[in-house]
Amino acid sequence: MYGDRMGFWPCREAIAEYLTAVRGVRCEAAQVIIVNGAQQGLELSARALLDPGDHVWIEEPGYPGAVQAFRGVTDNLMPVPIDDNGLDVKEGIRRCPEARAAFITPSHQFPMGMTMTTGRRMMLVDWAFRNNAWIVEDDYDSEYDFRRRPIAAVQGLDTNARVIYIGTFSKVLFPSLRIGYLVVPSDLTSAFCRVRQASDVSHSTLEQAVLAEFIREGHLAGHIRRMRMLYMERNHMLVAAIEEQLGASVKIVAQAGMHLICLLPAGIDDTIVWQEAVKAGIASWPLSICYQRKPDQGGLILGYGGVDRKQIKEGVKKLAAVVRECL
Ligand SMILES: Cc1ncc(COP(=O)(O)O)c(C=O)c1O
Repeated sequence: MYGDRMGFWPCREAIAEYLTAVRGVRCEAAQVIIVNGAQQGLELSARALLDPGDHVWIEEPGYPGAVQAFRGVTDNLMPVPIDDNGLDVKEGIRRCPEARAAFITPSHQFPMGMTMTTGRRMMLVDWAFRNNAWIVEDDYDSEYDFRRRPIAAVQGLDTNARVIYIGTFSKVLFPSLRIGYLVVPSDLTSAFCRVRQASDVSHSTLEQAVLAEFIREGHLAGHIRRMRMLYMERNHMLVAAIEEQLGASVKIVAQAGMHLICLLPAGIDDTIVWQEAVKAGIASWPLSICYQRKPDQGGLILGYGGVDRKQIKEGVKKLAAVVRECL
C-alpha cells in the first residue's frame, strides 16, 4: 500500500509528543504532516494558503528557500526589516497591512541569529488574528541555542489557529535524511493533503518507522545534548580563529545554531569574496543572497556543522588570505 499522505502515524505521534514537551507547540498527532524537509513544508504552505497576487511578508535579510517557495505562487513578497528584537512587526503593518501571510524564523532568525522577543511575537499573533493572515513559523534549528533553553514556539502562543509550524530533522540529524514536518491548524489538514497528493503523495514509510523508534527510545534527545556541546565548541573555535586571523577588519555575528556571519566592511562586494573563497576551497554563502533589496553591508555565511577542529583552523587561514586580498 501507499503510505498515509500525512505520514506514518507512530512517527507523527512521536513528533507531536516531542514538540509539546520541548517546543511548547500545542498539537495533536492528527495535525502533524511529515514532509521531505522544511523546504517541502514551505512549498506546500505557499500552495495551500496563497493565491497568485497575495502579499507575503518576508524577513529582510531572510531565508532564500522561503523566497523561492512563495515565489512559486505569488510575486508580491514584501521585505520587512529585522532588528535585535526580530521581525519589525510595526514596519510590516506600515508597509503592507493586507498581507495574507508572514514568514518568520523566530527562535533563531535566518541568517542573523537573533531571537524574536515575546512582545513582537504577541504583536504578530494579534495582527494575524485581526487580518485573517497566516504566520508561517520556520523553527529550523531552535535546538542549538547555546545561551539558554530555547524559547517556546510562536505556535504555542497563538490561540486563534493562525500559525503553520515547520520543523526539520536536517539540523538535529542530517540534511540528506529529508524529513521535516508541518503542524497545521486542524481545519487546514485537508487543504494540505490535497496539495500533498498532487506533489509526491507521501514520504517513504521506512525512514519514518526508524525515526519514530529513534525518538521514542530517547536517542534523539541524547544526540541533541551531545551535538549542542560539539557545535558550541566549533562555534567558539571558529570565532576565535577569525578574530586571530582577521581581527577588526570583519565583524562576527554568532549567536547560536550551525553557522555564523562574518560581516565585511561596507562597500565590499560579498559575491566577489565568496567566489574567491570557493576557488580557495572554502564553502560559504554571500550574505547578500538573503536580501531582496541591495544591502548596505555584505558578509559571508559560514557553516561549521560539518567541519572539525583542524579544518576550521586551516580553512580560516585560507579565508583570511582571500579576504585580505579583497579589502
Ligand atoms: C531557515 C531554514 N529553514 C529550513 C532549513 C532546512 O531545510 P530542509 O529541512 O529542507 O533541509 C534551513 C537549512 O539550511 C534553513 O536555513
